Amino acid sequence: MNRYTLASVLVIVVVLFSSSFTVNSYDLDESIDVYYLIAPLMKSKYGYLLANFNAFHAGLGFITKSTNEEYTVDFIAYPTITASIFPQIVNNTDSAASTSAEEPLPDLVWNTIGMVQYQEQIDGTYWTSREKMYTITGQQFKEYLCWLPIYNQSFPYYNLFDVQDTDTGDIFIPSSTCYDFVWSSFTALYALGGQLLTSTPPNRDYVTLMVTTEPNIVDHPMEPDHWKQITQFYSAIAYNPNESFQNYIGNLTILLNGTFFLHIDGKYYNLTMAPLNPWNVSYSPQPLPYGTADPSILNMPSTCFPTPPKKSSIGGGWIFIIILLCGSTTYLLIGVLVNKFLFKQHGIDLIPNRKVWLSFGSLIGDGKNFIVSKVTGNKFIPLSKHSETQPLI
Ligand SMILES: *[C@@H]1O[C@H](CO)[C@@H](O)[C@H](O)[C@H]1NC(C)=O
Ligand SMILES: *[C@@H]1O[C@H](CO)[C@@H](O)[C@H](O)[C@H]1NC(C)=O
Ligand SMILES: *[C@@H]1O[C@H](CO)[C@@H](O)[C@H](O)[C@H]1NC(C)=O
Ligand SMILES: *[C@@H]1O[C@H](CO)[C@@H](O)[C@H](O)[C@H]1NC(C)=O
Ligand SMILES: *[C@@H]1O[C@H](CO)[C@@H](O)[C@H](O)[C@H]1NC(C)=O
Ligand SMILES: *[C@@H]1O[C@H](CO)[C@@H](O)[C@H](O)[C@H]1NC(C)=O
Ligand SMILES: *[C@@H]1O[C@H](CO)[C@@H](O)[C@H](O)[C@H]1NC(C)=O
Repeated sequence: MNRYTLASVLVIVVVLFSSSFTVNSYDLDESIDVYYLIAPLMKSKYGYLLANFNAFHAGLGFITKSTNEEYTVDFIAYPTITASIFPQIVNNTDSAASTSAEEPLPDLVWNTIGMVQYQEQIDGTYWTSREKMYTITGQQFKEYLCWLPIYNQSFPYYNLFDVQDTDTGDIFIPSSTCYDFVWSSFTALYALGGQLLTSTPPNRDYVTLMVTTEPNIVDHPMEPDHWKQITQFYSAIAYNPNESFQNYIGNLTILLNGTFFLHIDGKYYNLTMAPLNPWNVSYSPQPLPYGTADPSILNMPSTCFPTPPKKSSIGGGWIFIIILLCGSTTYLLIGVLVNKFLFKQHGIDLIPNRKVWLSFGSLIGDGKNFIVSKVTGNKFIPLSKHSETQPLI
């Protein structure tokens, strides 16, 4: 082994000690930037219909400042947004139903799952714009990740529509979309102590159904009279991909002038639509949370707030001893390597600066003898000679 091999060994040792993992190795007091991510609602992903609106998908990106790790969270409709609006209409071939005089009513098959997605990366090819919103600490990020499943369980469904009173502006039924998740996340991050970095609230999509009276839940939707109304409504608004989109929207405005049966999480709401403007699609700013940051509004279990490690359990003295031990181990290791391969030493001579340490031992002996001589009154004779010291490596 020559000095180049030795240099390589040292480089490998240094790299092993300094390299970090790409995820989950951020510190609790590390700064993390929070980004508002936007992507166009892609035709391939969400179907023909919504690609024609000024429609976007939104999520949040997190970038840790020192360790440079990336995370994404977003709320998605599963399998698609269109499936959450339009049920599959399945003809009922049930024998009991087909024997009756009237034509059997079809079944409606729904796929309206909404769920929070968590990824340990930010897909730069998917998200087309990002805006820095907040700075949080690693500790606050951990608390936010603890809040995610609570949101996920509270909103297991996707609902594109807000339902709003056309006169008073009251929201009767809130939507459950990617934007609602993002704004709930802003509220959570702010309540947990996140620092807001922008003064202009960003835009979001709204799809609002305007009603004239408070919606009623349909008590027994499967009752033939009720089910007939519901299935007729969904057959009427079903989108035929061959129809032009302008035609479809034009017809929809006529069709929605009356009753809308909104399906949310297994229930049907009977909406009385406003005659003039039955719906409103807009892309406009939504205010950000402000005021006093209060984590108690989040209803999170106390287990989400781990007590920070106690300072007293490892005092300055212990830290000093640990640093000393680590330092002296590294010093010994490197010293032995240098003595063996660079200076070709053997046996006990491998110990770095052996003579200094030997004289250090005799210095301690001197100290002891000096004190003893003071107490006993005997003559003090030093043991050590300081001539043979060599520079420390
Ligand atoms: C379902 O029934 C209706 C009317 O009975 C018919 O027009 C339609 O083609 C049927 N659809 C399927 C998929 O069988
Ligand atoms: C949210 O819930 C869904 C379905 O239960 C699950 O697949 C998903 O992993 C959950 N997401 C998070 C971030 O917990
Ligand atoms: C829905 O409401 C309208 C108007 O109030 C009513 O005529 C209709 O019977 C209701 N339908 C159901 C299924 O509740
Ligand atoms: C749509 O049009 C294509 C041909 O242009 C036809 O093959 C298909 O059956 C049509 N689909 C419906 C649902 O009408
Ligand atoms: C939709 O509108 C077009 C013209 O705008 C009309 O020809 C067509 O019949 C309408 N379809 C329905 C189902 O009302
Ligand atoms: C809705 O229906 C009412 C009464 O039937 C009519 O006056 C109004 O113009 C309709 N609105 C639209 C947008 O078709
Ligand atoms: C549609 O919604 C936007 C944003 O909430 C609002 O500014 C606008 O006035 C609404 N338009 C109508 C016709 O209600």
